[in-house]
Amino acid sequence: MNDSGVWQQCHLKMTSALNKVISELTPSSTENDAKETYDAWAATYEKDTDEHGYKGHVLCMEAFNKAMQSEGVFPGANKNIKILDAGAGTGIIGEMLVKQGYTNVDALDISQKMLDIAIKKNVYKRFICAPLSDVRIEQIQTAEYDVTLCAGTIVYGQAKPVALDECIRHVRPGQYNGQVTPSHSQDR
Ligand SMILES: C[S@@+](CC[C@H](N)C(=O)[O-])C[C@H]1O[C@@H](n2cnc3c(N)ncnc32)[C@H](O)[C@@H]1O
Repeated sequence: MNDSGVWQQCHLKMTSALNKVISELTPSSTENDAKETYDAWAATYEKDTDEHGYKGHVLCMEAFNKAMQSEGVFPGANKNIKILDAGAGTGIIGEMLVKQGYTNVDALDISQKMLDIAIKKNVYKRFICAPLSDVRIEQIQTAEYDVTLCAGTIVYGQAKPVALDECIRHVRPGQYNGQVTPSHSQDR
């Protein structure tokens, strides 16, 4: 088999592994289903999604940076603003934020196994293992954060849209709430 054939076989194998994980979650999945899926996937999540071309974290950071640069969207913003990465997973967004100089970032995720990988990166101050839903997360005070970022989490088969209300509760009035939903979630 030539190089291109080997690549195609690897790609197909990886894509079907990724699709299998994603297709395990449907709108009737429970929070526990999502937790178990990501707990089981944590070890290979970054490699699989990188190979698959997942860009939720990149799009989320692009939107965030654009907002930060726009006059009037976030007056007085500095690198010490308090940010919540909701559905932080293995901490890719935390790494990107810290590289840009942000110093005050917390992580929330339903999967402790995903958070365990994020913990090793030393980019977050606090870790909250809890589901985003319509239920109040008691560890988070109302208006505790300046910014909530949430990539690839309020999507098909995972956190329900009603979780947006809880994300809004976390953020100071007038501050920034950035959500990125992959297009496949809207398509299905
Ligand atoms: C596709 S990953 C995205 C991770 C990270 N935001 C990124 O872009 O790399 C989705 C994450 O959402 C988490 N998740 C799924 N349902 C959730 C829920 N109801 N509440 C909190 N986290 C959830 C999963 O455990 C997983 O870490």
